[in-house]
Amino acid sequence: MSLNHLPTRVKLVDVGPRDGLQNEKQMVPAAVKIGLIDRLQQAGVRHLEATSFVSPKWVPQMGDAVEVMAGLPRRADVVYSVLTPNLKGFEGALAAGANEVVVFGAASEAFSQKNINCSIAESIERFAPVVVAAHANGISVRGAISCTVGCPYEGEVSPERVALVARLMKDIGVDHVGVADTIGVGTPRRVQAALEAALRHYDVADISGHFHDTYGQALANTLAALEMGVAQFDTSIAGLGGCPYAKGATGNVATEDVVYMLHGMGIDTGLDLDKLVDASQFISDHLGRKPNSRVSVALLNKRAAL
Ligand code: HMG
Ligand code: MG
Repeated sequence: MSLNHLPTRVKLVDVGPRDGLQNEKQMVPAAVKIGLIDRLQQAGVRHLEATSFVSPKWVPQMGDAVEVMAGLPRRADVVYSVLTPNLKGFEGALAAGANEVVVFGAASEAFSQKNINCSIAESIERFAPVVVAAHANGISVRGAISCTVGCPYEGEVSPERVALVARLMKDIGVDHVGVADTIGVGTPRRVQAALEAALRHYDVADISGHFHDTYGQALANTLAALEMGVAQFDTSIAGLGGCPYAKGATGNVATEDVVYMLHGMGIDTGLDLDKLVDASQFISDHLGRKPNSRVSVALLNKRAAL
């Protein structure tokens, strides 16, 4: 692998407040979610997933979406994304002042059924009016494609399935696609194949990586994506995360770990690692455990030794 053509600046979208917290059994108060978002902003985060406008029966932890959005420490230079599986979700997102919405589909039929209770084809039918309504209101739409490498129900997923969903999303006007390794089973070449499939329909500037770290491959997969010119990634503070409909999958790659790697390679993120560690410690203290980030643990140990 040649590392000569890496991007010089990378955009990280912190999905901690959404992907990170959605899987927590214990309800996290809205004030803590807002406190986390505030600390992420202080660390330089300028794009984050704040919450989801989904059915509270499906994901109770996101049931306080309206409260979280109303209490945001809003900044004009921060993009607040929210998940919207259908028009009902979009209406909530619009009323709450989200400035980007995320429709989320899957490259696996079984996961689509488990996660959003419909087939891939039906999901596209639901997303199409969301895209129209979002664009009519000047709101951009990101499309997450889950299970682009493997599925907890169907096993291995072929790049052809990823290309199909990317094409369907392109056809309805989705602006950007996130290629997700939902259960973190991918290894660099497999993740590159999934990204290549998405590249058949989207420019590299309109593609991001969303890698869960279940098997400890997410940093390697991030580097493999960088090598292809991908310059946007979803990461999660303290490595929080998981999907309630992907049992056994752990969190997204930790923001702190990606930032440490990128800064160490001379790649700019605009983020302050020390302040990210503060945010990581804040949410980890609330949850009563250590951050799921090697970098945060190392830096917290170093602070404790001073
Ligand atoms: P459904 O039951 O088929 O929906 O669920 P429905 O249209 O038949 O409606 C049933 C009830 O839900 C009705 O209420 C609706 O009003 C309500 P009732 O009349 O029974 O009281 N409802 C809603 N309520 C609030 N907000 C809404 C909404 N829509 C309907 N938007 C639905 C379909 C999609 C709603 C459901 O399956 C759902 O909410 N799923 C969300 C699952 C989810 O959030 N998963 C985690 C996020 S995805 C993820 O983590 C993956 C990602 O990180 C990438 C990766 O890693 O792969 C993005
Ligand atoms: Mg995810």
